[in-house]
Amino acid sequence: MSDTRREFIAAIDQGTTSSRCIVFDRDGRIVSVGQKEHEQIFPEPGWVEHDAAEIWANVQEVVAEALERAGITREDVRALGITNQRETTLLWDRATGEPVHNAIVWQDTRTDALCRELGRNVGQDRFRRETGLPLASYFAGPKIRWLLENVEGLRERAEAGEILFGTMDSWVIWNLTGGPDGGVHVTDVTNASRTLLMNLRTLDWDPRICESLGVPMAVLPEIRSSAEVYGEARGALAGVPVASALGDQQAALFGQTCFSPGEAKSTYGTGTFLLLNTGSEAVNSYNGLLTTVGYRIGDQDPVYALEGSIAVTGSLVQWMRDQMGLINSAAEIETLASSVEDNGGAYFVPAFSGLFAPYWRSDARGVIAGLTRYVTKAHIARAVLEATAWQTREIVDAMEKDSRVELTALKVDGGMTSNNLLMQCISDVLDAPVVRPMVAETTCLGAAYAAGLAVGFWPDTDALRANWRRAAEWTPRMEADVREREYKNWLKAVERTMGWLE
Ligand code: G3P
Repeated sequence: MSDTRREFIAAIDQGTTSSRCIVFDRDGRIVSVGQKEHEQIFPEPGWVEHDAAEIWANVQEVVAEALERAGITREDVRALGITNQRETTLLWDRATGEPVHNAIVWQDTRTDALCRELGRNVGQDRFRRETGLPLASYFAGPKIRWLLENVEGLRERAEAGEILFGTMDSWVIWNLTGGPDGGVHVTDVTNASRTLLMNLRTLDWDPRICESLGVPMAVLPEIRSSAEVYGEARGALAGVPVASALGDQQAALFGQTCFSPGEAKSTYGTGTFLLLNTGSEAVNSYNGLLTTVGYRIGDQDPVYALEGSIAVTGSLVQWMRDQMGLINSAAEIETLASSVEDNGGAYFVPAFSGLFAPYWRSDARGVIAGLTRYVTKAHIARAVLEATAWQTREIVDAMEKDSRVELTALKVDGGMTSNNLLMQCISDVLDAPVVRPMVAETTCLGAAYAAGLAVGFWPDTDALRANWRRAAEWTPRMEADVREREYKNWLKAVERTMGWLE
């Protein structure tokens, strides 16, 4: 009999700024972590790219690092789960495994004009009924079309079946399972639900939409559930079942064990993404949210979610550090912001990639409003943190309108949750408690949980719920009149961002 104490689940998180591998034990505790950042390529204003070959090399490195730090070998790994930055789009050569272009990152706005053209006369909700999404540069479908139109000879090669499309889950799984030498070309329902090409009810590619977007179906991966064995890894993890894939935000929903309708989580990373489990019903949004697949375990019914996506939150702090030089480390923003009582009248709306939910305005650009000579860099730091809180409030308001469920508490995770001032501020502006679990790495944890369920490492979702433990809680302290006054000012500042691009 095998020694079950020596069994682990590994999860790879291929994120926007870095790739990570985390090894978990049966209690869902972190055993070890490997992590490496990759280059952010900005070829033109509004464009963001990643080098997919660099990402695959980093993924292999971080897996080796995590295993070594845990003092284990591939024989101790029962299954491997994958989670990833969503929507980031790659096309590669089926025979050689060479990417035909850098990956176009989810934040990239180059397809803005194309999306407006596709929505002309009918509006940006042209495919919302089928896909749950508005026509916006955020999603993968228009990015595929851009590549096919802008890389010479690519459309002919794609139509001849020589080219494969994938979001980063597909790229990593294809490479892990053999690449040109028999790699499986799959994606899961959660990632597919972010392409603008998948029908939410059939959970299959929608031929009519593919045709409207000019995407040959020959490039598309097979859509599978989020928790099942897709194939066996080769190389360093040879023989380990690759057993889950979920977009990172859906993985966090899973890792936070939001398995019942009405449960919600918000992940504070590069951007912020608030997802509410709506159960077996795909709820249409009339308030600027996305309808998306939350997860699907094997052949069980899919679970849907409503999502509020905010493009820029943690990346605003990075921008303050890297482009503005106002802080030396991301952590310093809290110290600086805490040195003043309030924002000094300044409001910062970081519409760097346009505005996502609930506005979906790619013509918006960032503004700092309310400036006077009184404002110092500490006030700006405070306005930076408040921007994340107010954007959360706008999403929660939209979610309450769409779902008619009032939020009683918000489960949070992600890198920014170590910022106490920000967490207090979110609780203040929502007028609701904010709770953080013991394992804040919920994205990797969710992928590990799904992979573990697929191979029977955990018996069911109840066993996963039992692992969730509260680490911290923030409760509201702000006076109601201050909250309402500040919210009004924030909304005024948001108005100033719109229509900046003609
Ligand atoms: O939709 C984009 C999202 O999946 C990216 O998440 O954490 O890599 O910034 P993150």
